[in-house]
Amino acid sequence: MARPKIALIGAGQIGGTLAHLAAIKELGDIILFDIAEGTPQGKALDIAQSGPSEGFDAVMKGANSYEDIAGADVCIVTAGVPRKPGMSRDDLLGINLKVMKSVGEGIAKHAPNAFVICITNPLDAMVWALREFSGLPHNKVVGMAGVLDSARFRHFLSVEFNVSMRDVTAFVLGGHGDTMVPLVRYSTVGGIPLPDLVAMGWTTQEKLDGIVQRTRDGGAEIVGLLKTGSAFYAPATSAIEMAEAYLKDQKRLLPCAAYVDGALGLDGMYVGVPTIIGKDGIERIVDIKMDDAEQAMFDKSVDAVKGLVAACKAIDPSLA
Ligand code: APR
Repeated sequence: MARPKIALIGAGQIGGTLAHLAAIKELGDIILFDIAEGTPQGKALDIAQSGPSEGFDAVMKGANSYEDIAGADVCIVTAGVPRKPGMSRDDLLGINLKVMKSVGEGIAKHAPNAFVICITNPLDAMVWALREFSGLPHNKVVGMAGVLDSARFRHFLSVEFNVSMRDVTAFVLGGHGDTMVPLVRYSTVGGIPLPDLVAMGWTTQEKLDGIVQRTRDGGAEIVGLLKTGSAFYAPATSAIEMAEAYLKDQKRLLPCAAYVDGALGLDGMYVGVPTIIGKDGIERIVDIKMDDAEQAMFDKSVDAVKGLVAACKAIDPSLA
């Protein structure tokens, strides 16, 4: 059986890391696409040359033409610009919206059957725009945010509790921005919910609140340290987890920016919700019940995403 084809649209920091991870995991043959000439070709060659030591079989190719993504099974989109210190994800909107138009049209023409994972920020608005520009089915276009935000939360919790990250599960929903909603009640260590761990004296409410806030600011913390760009290792790993769930029909329950129409009281918008990813893309939205405080936070986050979508429509009337 032929190997799956994975097209990485954007061969920058995240794109290169995605290519390396996909190769090491032998998820398929890889096309690195970018408008910058030489960058995708150079990265493809460099990563291919790690194959003999790592021991993977994957064809790795760099490209500047959308024709090379023809027939891709998965497209992961990082094309656009990242943040610099002092910028919010929302500051990227104007530039990256134009990029989503060309990427969406390229995917529609050359890889209309792909499962498309968007990483470009501001995430919830960009995945919505990418879906609009591409015209692909909603269940095949999804944004990567919740897996990353949850991973950040899990990491901080594992350090606080001095337990393996593998035993910490966590849920972060809502938009990928300052209003994201880490759901403490649904986050556990070995199945024990965080509020119970506070009651057991494993941590204090104050410390837990601090971890929640650090999770919300997780991307900005790294931007502030790097100064020249934003995080790329964990974002790439998170998107690969989603791609693998699709390619291997794993039916993983992963929080993603998915199109929600009906569940969680929403009527037709992209936002971070729990989903099941399998061979049909987003196969289910998990319609969890939130308490009043959680719902209020989620509503605020939904409003922030709606504001960004309205800003996109104001910039590009074809989206209105
Ligand atoms: N088509 C294809 N590639 C493009 C386009 C375009 N229209 N415009 C820009 N690019 C490419 C750039 O040439 C660059 O190689 O996108 C790549 C982006 O790479 P980086 O600048 O290294 O950014 P990265 O850190 O990978 O982040 C990409 O993901 O998390 C988000 O906020 C982040 O929006 C940013 C995106």
